[in-house]
Amino acid sequence: MAGSSSIPVVCIDGPSGSGKGTISRAVARAAGWHLLDSGALYRLVALAGAAAGITGDDVPRHAALARAMRVEFGWRPDGDEQVRLDGRDVSAELRSETAGAGASRVAAWPEVRAALLERQRASARAPGLIADGRDMGTVVFPDASLKIFLTATPEERALRRYKQLKDKGSAVNLAALSREIAERDLRDRTRQVAPLRPAADACVIDSTGLNVEAVVARVLDLGVARRLWPQGLKA
Ligand code: C5P
Repeated sequence: MAGSSSIPVVCIDGPSGSGKGTISRAVARAAGWHLLDSGALYRLVALAGAAAGITGDDVPRHAALARAMRVEFGWRPDGDEQVRLDGRDVSAELRSETAGAGASRVAAWPEVRAALLERQRASARAPGLIADGRDMGTVVFPDASLKIFLTATPEERALRRYKQLKDKGSAVNLAALSREIAERDLRDRTRQVAPLRPAADACVIDSTGLNVEAVVARVLDLGVARRLWPQGLKA
């Protein structure tokens, strides 16, 4: 079965604003493993759909774009991420709430999820993969070596997202953002395919009130206990 290869995979799933992205990046860097930002793929499908002028719920065309789109993830010299979609730099658009909302819409369509499955599994390469998303542990990598489900209170998640967007210079309103996040969470939790929920064998970490270093240290300790990497790695 795909996803049961010998490459070790650590899944970090959870709702918007739970800190998955930050924690996954830090753990991947500390361990020297590859990183899969699966949310970015759903965001890219939404952007590709908009760029192609697809209006409404044209599921087959979105699924075709999900299979065909050419995606390059990289880093700028200043350390910021750089993402290209079919050769176009979409780094800023990708992280907007519009792209997030579009992602959550296309992510509810089984054909789009199926179209992205192999792309996600193919990102498992030696020495290992940190997979960040909603269904990494439940669907994409059911045999992962370690599954983390990261949570935080809705208030804290909205506040984190608010700070993140503000730091990037976006004009944001906390009340509107809280509403958007609540809507997105509800859609992600209640959709028919791959709804957001912890895998039965996931370790749940509530990051409310914890700083990034504390959460990374917890994940690194869990990896040591599973013999995925040596003790003493630093974020
Ligand atoms: O994590 P991020 O905010 O980038 O994800 C955007 C949206 O993509 C989520 O709200 C969710 O609807 C969808 N998604 C998903 N499955 C994943 C990752 C993201 O359905 N594995």
